[in-house]
Amino acid sequence: MDVAFSDKLNHLADGIAENGYAIIDNFLAPDEVDAILDEFKTGMLQFKKAGIGHKQEKQINEGIRGDYIQWIDRTTAAQPLQIYLLRLNELISFVNQALYLSLKDFEIHSTVYPVGTYYRRHLDQFKKDDHRKLSVICYLNKDWKESEGGQLRIYFADTELDIMPEAGRLVCFRSDLLEHEVLPATRERLSLTGWILDQHADLRHL
Ligand code: OGA
Ligand code: MN
Repeated sequence: MDVAFSDKLNHLADGIAENGYAIIDNFLAPDEVDAILDEFKTGMLQFKKAGIGHKQEKQINEGIRGDYIQWIDRTTAAQPLQIYLLRLNELISFVNQALYLSLKDFEIHSTVYPVGTYYRRHLDQFKKDDHRKLSVICYLNKDWKESEGGQLRIYFADTELDIMPEAGRLVCFRSDLLEHEVLPATRERLSLTGWILDQHADLRHL
């Protein structure tokens, strides 16, 4: 692991420990983002409307979230995505050591928010499933402008923070703790959205 990357992971572990969240710019380099965007374009037709809730309780609710998703299967994911998945594995090993956690795996989907769509304020843990420990979102939107909206808004006890979905930026936060929402944008908003789990992903949707 190169020094620059381990510096980023250090910053991430500190942020999670102290504030419950961290923002890492250039988690993906511009050329890595480009390669993933090419994959998005070829796979766009397979995106499906995202639902809310878990397993049998899953339902599509237009009023709560308007994004389209495609789950990433690591055995078949294209090379540009494999680079990102590898980096998430390194992130897991690092925070496990730095914060004495026993995170084991992740689940992740590609995400498209069409113009005008949003995701209302929510928590990423389900009532009957608390295995999602850290939410990790990597954005793929070049030269995003504040006036275009689409911020991730994180709610804290006495304040809130708006984060722009800028290409290459990774946001990581406590799934059990921090409520958040996605504000509507005037431009299509692309990301890789994942959750780091304390169980193996292949045990999940049984
Ligand atoms: C989610 C989510 C935030 C974002 O998919 O659960 O909150 O910035 N995404 O895309
Ligand atoms: Mn969320």
